[in-house]
Amino acid sequence: MKIAVSGKGGVGKTLIAGGLARGFVERGLKTIAIDADSSPNLGLTLGLSTEQTRKIVPVSENKELVDSKTSTGYTGVYNLNFTVDDIVKQYSVPTPLDVNLIVMGTVQSMGSGCMCAPNAVIRALLRHLVVERNEAVVLDFEAGVEHIGRGTAKQVDALLIVADSNLKSLEIAKHIHDLAAAADMKQLYLIGNRVMNDEQKDAVTKFAKENSMELLTFVPWDQKVIEADMLGVTPLKNKEIAAVKAIDGICDLLLKKTA
Ligand SMILES: Nc1ncnc2c1ncn2[C@@H]1O[C@H](COP(=O)(O)OP(=O)(O)OP(=O)(O)O)[C@@H](O)[C@H]1O
Ligand SMILES: [Mg+2]
Repeated sequence: MKIAVSGKGGVGKTLIAGGLARGFVERGLKTIAIDADSSPNLGLTLGLSTEQTRKIVPVSENKELVDSKTSTGYTGVYNLNFTVDDIVKQYSVPTPLDVNLIVMGTVQSMGSGCMCAPNAVIRALLRHLVVERNEAVVLDFEAGVEHIGRGTAKQVDALLIVADSNLKSLEIAKHIHDLAAAADMKQLYLIGNRVMNDEQKDAVTKFAKENSMELLTFVPWDQKVIEADMLGVTPLKNKEIAAVKAIDGICDLLLKKTA
């Protein structure tokens, strides 16, 4: 199963992506988490220290890898027929939560200079990543809508769109949803994160209904998440945290939906 997590900046994508990856591991799935944000911090959420996360060389900055996988000897012509097993074996980092982490690094658009090869590697990595029944891939996307245009989102089974009750985050969620639907993506689910009360739940529910979005579930606001983030420790080890528990429950919903 391949799942991607998208949404406006700061809505909780990384917390949810990390929590899902952890949840899949606990359910016996071999899990890879892909940090596709150009300002990566999924490693911290998966329990790595700041020192450890700083040492990770992103796939897009690994010139040797990009060249070896894409070079055809002709400028601007890339060989996309390669397997990605070796990339996963060589470049994923183990984390304390037993999730294998791959950091993609900066993915710029095709028109902006020489990023074509890294882009090709990243898209191909996703496309050729063969995911068996006992495996899961969770992608933590960059904030906003650009990843839909890059074609990376199309490579997943389900796209989760995270928002909170803030209308701005809901508007961006709708934008992502409509672009993904236009790109013929079928499994699109809205998640209402950081909800504090019924009023906020109602606002998200109403917005989803009015805009024909499928609302999967809510994740409550929890002060303990903020406290853990402040201390630089992952909140994900602590199931007492209501938000962590709710995210864990999303794993079962997704396993059912994608079965
Ligand atoms: N359910 C929650 N309860 C309380 N705080 C939360 C919750 N979800 C996320 N947060 C807090 O909100 C902030 C943003 O979360 P996170 O980094 O996961 O968002 P993001 O969407 O990945 O952000 P970015 O767009 O910067 O990558 C963090 O400080 C996190 O601790
Ligand atoms: Mg993030």
